[in-house]
Amino acid sequence: MKKRIFSGMQPTNRLQLGNYLGALKNWVKLQDEPDTECIYCVVDLHANTTGYTPDTLKQSTREVAAAYIAAGLDPKKSIIFAQSSVPAHAQLGWMLGCITPLGWLNRMTQFKDKAGKDKEKASAGLYTYPVLMAADVLLYHGTHVPVGDDQKQHVELMRDIAISFNQHIAKRDFFPLPEPLIMGEATRVMSLRDGTAKMSKSAESDMSRINLTDDADAIANKIKKAKTDAGVVPANEAEFEGRPEARNLITIYAALADMSKQQVMNEFGGQQFSAFKNALSDLTVAKMGPITSRMRELMGDVAELDRILADSSDRANAIAEPILKQTKDILGFWSPR
Ligand code: AMP
Ligand code: TRP
Repeated sequence: MKKRIFSGMQPTNRLQLGNYLGALKNWVKLQDEPDTECIYCVVDLHANTTGYTPDTLKQSTREVAAAYIAAGLDPKKSIIFAQSSVPAHAQLGWMLGCITPLGWLNRMTQFKDKAGKDKEKASAGLYTYPVLMAADVLLYHGTHVPVGDDQKQHVELMRDIAISFNQHIAKRDFFPLPEPLIMGEATRVMSLRDGTAKMSKSAESDMSRINLTDDADAIANKIKKAKTDAGVVPANEAEFEGRPEARNLITIYAALADMSKQQVMNEFGGQQFSAFKNALSDLTVAKMGPITSRMRELMGDVAELDRILADSSDRANAIAEPILKQTKDILGFWSPR
């Protein structure tokens, strides 16, 4: 059977190294696998779950599409489109929401994290976020979902929703059960300031992350100031114990260099962190620099980006429409044709 890959990122703030290593880098690899069709979405509807940003949304959407392409996604091979340009996402999201028990949503840890202390003030959209995410993938009969470790729970929920629909409503295997693909060494990149917190584009301190738009000086400065401990670079996994910052920097190096963590430690174990940080900084600049400059180039030609997004949106709609129609038929909705 043909694999159909679906994944997405929100156009909120700037993308950071965790987005690249945990997701984007793997998406690029999948694009060249045989019998695989890849659909990569800029999930602009999801970006609205924490509030509307009308002044910046369109530009952020283009910027994320530019990052996808700059990182190596080829719009001729992969479909790269904006979620809101395919109306069926929101429609299927509604239908799936009606078979999703509140109890399932109450278990979602991302909602708890994002809603913060005053849950009453969080939007209903933030709460039903995972249902829309399920619709994103199921709408294309997606089979595999490459994401970072933090999205695993959402993919499991998506499977539960698909099982429930198949068993109780369709009474056949209508939606394939999507599998999470959590790939590579860096499935969870941590903050440069705190090895126990995830690197995130919304964290307050810019020093905690490497943005895809950072220049060489900014990257070098952030790595130089990254938190470490008083010891030397660990030489094996056992020495990671109680040293989350050391583990994180080794993990980042391994993922960027396409090495295993042990290979990195064979090279640097026992050395001072300052020497290792210099090497990490050079490696990061070498790997991210070309992506950053390509992104800038692409952002300089908005008309071309818009053309790519429009063309992909047609291709995505062409897959999604018939699946939405079949879903509506299964659910018994009246249709004009
Ligand atoms: P988001 O920025 O939340 O839209 O995430 C987009 C993709 O990047 C998802 O697949 C996330 O799992 C992944 N991702 C985000 N932050 C990290 C991180 N710190 N480490 C690994 N993957 C990440
Ligand atoms: N929730 C994902 C994140 O924040 C983004 C996302 C939305 C997504 N829809 C998706 C990821 C569908 C994979 C598949 O990272």
